[in-house]
Amino acid sequence: MEGSWVSLWALLLFLTQWASAIVEDGLLNNGNFETPPTGGFPNPSMAAGVGTTSLPSWAINGTVELVESGQLQGRMILVVPEGKHAVRLGNEAEVSQNVELEKGSTYAVTFSAARTCAQLEELNVSAWGAATSAASTVDLQTLYNVEGWDAYAWAFQAQQEDGAETKLAFKNPGMEDDPTCGPIIDNIAIKKLFIPDRLEDNAVINGDFEEGPWMFPNATLGVLLPTNLDEETTSLPGWIVESNRAVRYIDSYHFDVPQGKRAIELLSGKEGIISQMVETTPQKQYNLSFTFGHAGDSCQAPLAVMAFAGDQAQNFHYSPTGHAKHQPANLTFTARAERTRIAFYSVYYNTRSTDRTSLCGPVVDDVRVWGASGSARSNGPGFIGLLLSMVVLLGLALA
Ligand SMILES: *[C@@H]1O[C@H](CO)[C@@H](O)[C@H](O)[C@H]1NC(C)=O
Ligand SMILES: *[C@@H]1O[C@H](CO)[C@@H](O)[C@H](O)[C@H]1NC(C)=O
Ligand SMILES: *[C@@H]1O[C@H](CO)[C@@H](O)[C@H](O)[C@H]1NC(C)=O
Ligand SMILES: *[C@@H]1O[C@H](CO)[C@@H](O)[C@H](O)[C@H]1NC(C)=O
Ligand SMILES: *[C@@H]1O[C@H](CO)[C@@H](O)[C@H](O)[C@H]1NC(C)=O
Repeated sequence: MEGSWVSLWALLLFLTQWASAIVEDGLLNNGNFETPPTGGFPNPSMAAGVGTTSLPSWAINGTVELVESGQLQGRMILVVPEGKHAVRLGNEAEVSQNVELEKGSTYAVTFSAARTCAQLEELNVSAWGAATSAASTVDLQTLYNVEGWDAYAWAFQAQQEDGAETKLAFKNPGMEDDPTCGPIIDNIAIKKLFIPDRLEDNAVINGDFEEGPWMFPNATLGVLLPTNLDEETTSLPGWIVESNRAVRYIDSYHFDVPQGKRAIELLSGKEGIISQMVETTPQKQYNLSFTFGHAGDSCQAPLAVMAFAGDQAQNFHYSPTGHAKHQPANLTFTARAERTRIAFYSVYYNTRSTDRTSLCGPVVDDVRVWGASGSARSNGPGFIGLLLSMVVLLGLALA
């Protein structure tokens, strides 16, 4: 009796260990760089540019520096996005961590990054393994807010066999004269994404934006979603950020979100476009509806959204009634193909009134596409078919 309990306990222990091998959603091990290295954190008053040789849970290649909030570099105070510590990547320096992932799943990595003094700051984020190879260069050039740092998300698909490891790496690809000018990174988290089912009365996937990359409960700046046009994977299931500037993924704890807990704030005017290809029936009439509004982040008026559905485009001005912070919008269109592109961007380049620098814009949420009543379906294909057969007959007669 006792023996069977022991073996059951051993089995449970084995099972939990086996299950816990796959990385869990949330902060990576020492993803905020707050675990002291052997010998303790370096003295921040020491000369900048001294690399660390030990970074718990991470592998290092090149000069990687542990920086502390308040640390000075010349006259500049270094920005530490979260907590007390972060790492700065020197010329071609890299930090990496091996994680075990679920084969075939899509993962989103969220991280915070700050630029320091380089002219062209970029960060190479990659996932490497025997079967997985995905990489992306995140542009840190554009400052989206006045805090001096931002959170970004990047997604990739895990191809590795279960049990094998994938190397998640962050590298500064730059070669600056001053090696202390590399980017600072902090707060690295991961999340396994799921693709929400398409609802019966809505052709849009994840139209409420509830599924997306990891967001820390205290992520006051939201998460920037950089372009993913060239990549098959997206950190916002269903959607593509098809512009050269990012859009911001926001939550209801820090922003006004029209519906649910998450939404998208459109930034950078025409340079911040999100789109989705939705399944449609050619010649059928559809209705695109969405909610848009103010994020409650002191974004300066006027706010307006440009919405596209197939060959239709319409400008929607934000003019809420009463105390409402958002308003509904709809657009009808006739599908021309089996897939129709819907897209949104901000008509204006808005900034916050508090600093006149931080980028902001209208919030879009609850996007739906469904077959409109009184559709052209009844005479559509029939009439076109008749026309086509007449053309064919005419062609035959002429030949
Ligand atoms: C370290 O980085 C250098 C230069 O980027 C590269 O050639 C080398 O292979 C890297 N070493 C390891 C162990 O990854
Ligand atoms: C950075 O990543 C890109 C892929 O996005 C890759 O083509 C490039 O070689 C990488 N650069 C360096 C220096 O590793
Ligand atoms: C944010 O939350 C994490 C845990 O979720 C905590 O470790 C961290 O200290 C918090 N950061 C701030 C700035 O409050
Ligand atoms: C739908 O659009 C029409 C025409 O733009 C407008 O009159 C109507 O109020 C809209 N309905 C909703 C619910 O937004
Ligand atoms: C599209 O949907 C809106 C909002 O539900 C509605 O007001 C409008 O009448 C619809 N248009 C058509 C053509 O069905």
